[in-house]
Amino acid sequence: MSPESNIPGHDPFKALKLIIPKDKTRDALTISLKAAMATILILSISLAAFSAVYSQTQPDFFTWPEPDTDLYTALFDSDDSPTNVSHLAFGIGGSTATWPKRARYSDLWWEAGATRGYVFLEKDPGGSGSGRPGIGNRVSSEWRRFRRKVGSEAAVRIARVGSDLFRVGLPGVRWFVMGDDDTVFFPENLAAVLGRHDHRRMVYVGGNSESVEQDVMHGYDMAFGGGGFAVSYPLAAELAAAMDGCLNRYHYFYGSDQRVWACIGELGVGLTREPGFHQVFS
Ligand SMILES: *[C@@H]1O[C@H](CO)[C@@H](O)[C@H](O)[C@H]1NC(C)=O
Repeated sequence: MSPESNIPGHDPFKALKLIIPKDKTRDALTISLKAAMATILILSISLAAFSAVYSQTQPDFFTWPEPDTDLYTALFDSDDSPTNVSHLAFGIGGSTATWPKRARYSDLWWEAGATRGYVFLEKDPGGSGSGRPGIGNRVSSEWRRFRRKVGSEAAVRIARVGSDLFRVGLPGVRWFVMGDDDTVFFPENLAAVLGRHDHRRMVYVGGNSESVEQDVMHGYDMAFGGGGFAVSYPLAAELAAAMDGCLNRYHYFYGSDQRVWACIGELGVGLTREPGFHQVFS
């Protein structure tokens, strides 16, 4: 030990000794420090134990069971049959107030017993609205708790139609097809077009707007909701998991289709164009 180490100025604990007063106060401080450490330790252990027990459950807002994606993808691998209408699930973004009139659009293309899917509304239309033939309705799951700076509440709700539809858990779905309540589909043509793409991969199919101004504003690589768009099963699964977070991140976007596009972008998937998805701008 060198003589210098005895010089007070070189004592590394000198500063501490100045701050912490001696005797009783110091003892009290040590005790409370130990108590605090013990509390933190106990809390950490409890938290670790809690996480271990609850690691299998979803966060609060995923109160419904997630469909078993492994099961579906295993089925896909053993099924090389061509895609037909039975492999599509339609999710229409509607509104309770206008649905009685708008339902006429879906009546044009809905084929009872062949097409599957739902129109998503704010609440059950009740009366004649809920018992009518054609596409059945479902109430959108909780959508009001998300941040929203621009656009309507409906934009957030309708952005979640894909996730709501996915979570219904319809069996044997290869493609989830979303559209507005006035979108007109040709289900057989649609099945043929989607059959050209690999539903085992993450695929986002649609078309941009016929309005250049809209394309410049929202993006040429965005599928415009009015023309309908489709996501493959694996992408729908990822989207369902990511969507709620995306909605809070992209609260400053205008439309529902833009919110979906942003979230799919985060997943690293670009738009696959099919000119048959055609948004008419008026
Ligand atoms: C659609 O394809 C499935 C096989 O994946 C087949 O069982 C079913 O009969 C087909 N439906 C139609 C309408 O062709």
